[in-house]
Amino acid sequence: MARNHLGPSIEGMLRRIPGFAKAADGVATTLHSAVTGGGAPARRVGDVLHGTWLGHPLHALLVGLPLGTWSASALFDLVALVTRSGEATWAADALLTTGVVTAVPAALAGAMDYSAASQEATPEIALHGILNSAALGLFLASLAARRRGRRGTGVLLSYGALTIAAGSAWLGGDLTYRHRVGVNHAEVPDHADGWIAVLDAGDLAAGAARRVMVGGTAVMVYRSAEAVYALGAVCSHAGGPLDEGTVEGHCVKCPWHQSVFDMRDGHVVHGPATMPQARYEARASNGLIQVRRWHEQQASAESPAPEARPGLDDDGMEQEVGGLGI
Ligand code: FES
Repeated sequence: MARNHLGPSIEGMLRRIPGFAKAADGVATTLHSAVTGGGAPARRVGDVLHGTWLGHPLHALLVGLPLGTWSASALFDLVALVTRSGEATWAADALLTTGVVTAVPAALAGAMDYSAASQEATPEIALHGILNSAALGLFLASLAARRRGRRGTGVLLSYGALTIAAGSAWLGGDLTYRHRVGVNHAEVPDHADGWIAVLDAGDLAAGAARRVMVGGTAVMVYRSAEAVYALGAVCSHAGGPLDEGTVEGHCVKCPWHQSVFDMRDGHVVHGPATMPQARYEARASNGLIQVRRWHEQQASAESPAPEARPGLDDDGMEQEVGGLGI
């Protein structure tokens, strides 16, 4: 059976347009700089639009509203055409208006995801945005035509817009399934039950981070003056190396798109990430840095939990266990 190469073909075509890929990436970078450099308010707006508060990309949830209502509107237009029903005409126009209104937050959330997308994906995302904007413009023209009594023109315009929106939705699927935009990139913790020694304690100075392997999973280990933390090293947003990130307090900032995670439990403090990092416990004990996978059941069953007690550092002193997992 022939394989579908439409996505890579479209991407190749976009990259052959002089300046398109560079411009697409430049717009994304400018947007991202405005969010990450705009202080706390800009960061909060970014978190809301990414869906960090929701634990799921917001754009993926919102796009169903305009696409669904526009499709339903097209059906009612068809019914109105066949039956001359006034109710069907009213429903078609109301659904079309609802689609236009709900497209605005969906577009804003999409633009925010575009700002933090990988360079390989930005040309296709830019095309996705251009097509969606064209569709929205045609839907608005359709509404205007309907209001002026030119219903036939209005219906033709909305059918054209829906065709463009459907093509753009296909591109959105390609971005998700082929480029993995909006997909959780964090590794699933390997079966690392029980404490596993990953480093000599002397090899991890206070304020330093290291990447170690636990089973087949990359784990970032960080040691502060008070505690040792461990969390999945592969960023859930797009796979960035958290062990190369910047640590402030008990939070680490990803070097790729500046998502911030709390190393104590892996939760997302700031997007673009929407999903947490895998949880591990970590301690310095008997001259070794040890980690183990976090188990909710184990944590609630153990009282007092051994991991809740201070560990021993490489000098034989007790050191707080951190990295409450992930
Ligand atoms: S890879 Fe994008 S924020 Fe980490």
